[in-house]
Amino acid sequence: MTASITLPDTVMEWPARYNEIPKAVFEEPGLWRLELENIFYGEEWHPIVHRAEVPNPGDYKAAFIGEMPIFAVHGDDGKIRVFHNACAHRGATLVTDSAGNKPDFECPYHRWLFSSRGDLVGCPNSQEFSPSFTKEKFGLRELRTESFSELYFVTMSDKTPDLRSYMTEAVSEPLGRILGNGHGLKLLGYQKVYYDCNWKAYVDNDGYHAPLLHLAFKLMGWQGGKGAQIITENGHMAFDAELSIPQKVDALEDSSIVQFKGDPDSKGSVIASTFPITVCTKHMDMLNVRYAFPKGPRGVEVHYTYFARDDDSPELLAHRTRQCSNLLGPSGLISLEDAAIFTRIDMGNRSPGNAIFQKGVVDEYRLDLNVKQNDESGNLPRW
Ligand code: FES
Ligand SMILES: [Fe+2]
Repeated sequence: MTASITLPDTVMEWPARYNEIPKAVFEEPGLWRLELENIFYGEEWHPIVHRAEVPNPGDYKAAFIGEMPIFAVHGDDGKIRVFHNACAHRGATLVTDSAGNKPDFECPYHRWLFSSRGDLVGCPNSQEFSPSFTKEKFGLRELRTESFSELYFVTMSDKTPDLRSYMTEAVSEPLGRILGNGHGLKLLGYQKVYYDCNWKAYVDNDGYHAPLLHLAFKLMGWQGGKGAQIITENGHMAFDAELSIPQKVDALEDSSIVQFKGDPDSKGSVIASTFPITVCTKHMDMLNVRYAFPKGPRGVEVHYTYFARDDDSPELLAHRTRQCSNLLGPSGLISLEDAAIFTRIDMGNRSPGNAIFQKGVVDEYRLDLNVKQNDESGNLPRW
């Protein structure tokens, strides 16, 4: 049986086989509005900020859910809240830079002033406002927020289940390991990149490609060890993989950059990816959250955010910083080819037909949640 997606000016036939995705789904601009409504503004949780990114009262960070600007702020009471980035008066954005520290938030238009808890604390000429006006009624609009290991998620829907049930144990267990297993984290920094592709092409990256696309895997003689991929019915994924790395890598002048020096359980890669778009990883000694913000039907901005544990020795801190800045992200030794592939996929998707998944597909007519570590079929439940 085939299904179809109907848009105002097009009907997209969905193939009967689970392992085929119509290329048009990456290219049809009309889908973006449906994705906003059903995914970004729907019953999903979106990680937005880790406490380590806003460690002090007054620290804030701007972000987006779909097209809506939001910002997280560490209140003077120690609580982290997430607000719509829109003045409660006539709606001007309050925060225009990506992060900073402020005791309060003043809107430049008519100088309404909001506290770090979101309360309206000042508004010029209020004696001439309507009789029913009170400051209490005009605080900033707060988003529903829950946290896991100090990573704060928001949702636009009241119907979204609580965060733990949403993530399931399959994701929360590896995510806990990535986020320091109870140790506090500290922010090392960001790498921000714009990928020239539809957001779904970015997030559809798979386990199959890593040793095949990325030349550094071969140059460094990396051997995969034991590994597993767990996928959930609601589109989350988790990977766990051992990796053995030779002591001396001839392709590198200094092999120390690819050695494990951290906690005993960093023996490879752990990935926890929550639907629809966030990927959290621990590769060797790198702790990384990739927040991603689609810029409409075309283009996605990815913020690679790197952390260390707050009890790391100075040596380990330096090692993590070197690894993070050299191995991952848009210019990372083991990931730099991804950007080129995203652009090439985007170009190729303008031609007709379907994108095909093969590795790990046992039955084309039955969706299977049982997949091996580097099977691309793990992406299919999302579709
Ligand atoms: S729009 Fe912000 S004070 Fe008027
Ligand atoms: Fe990759």
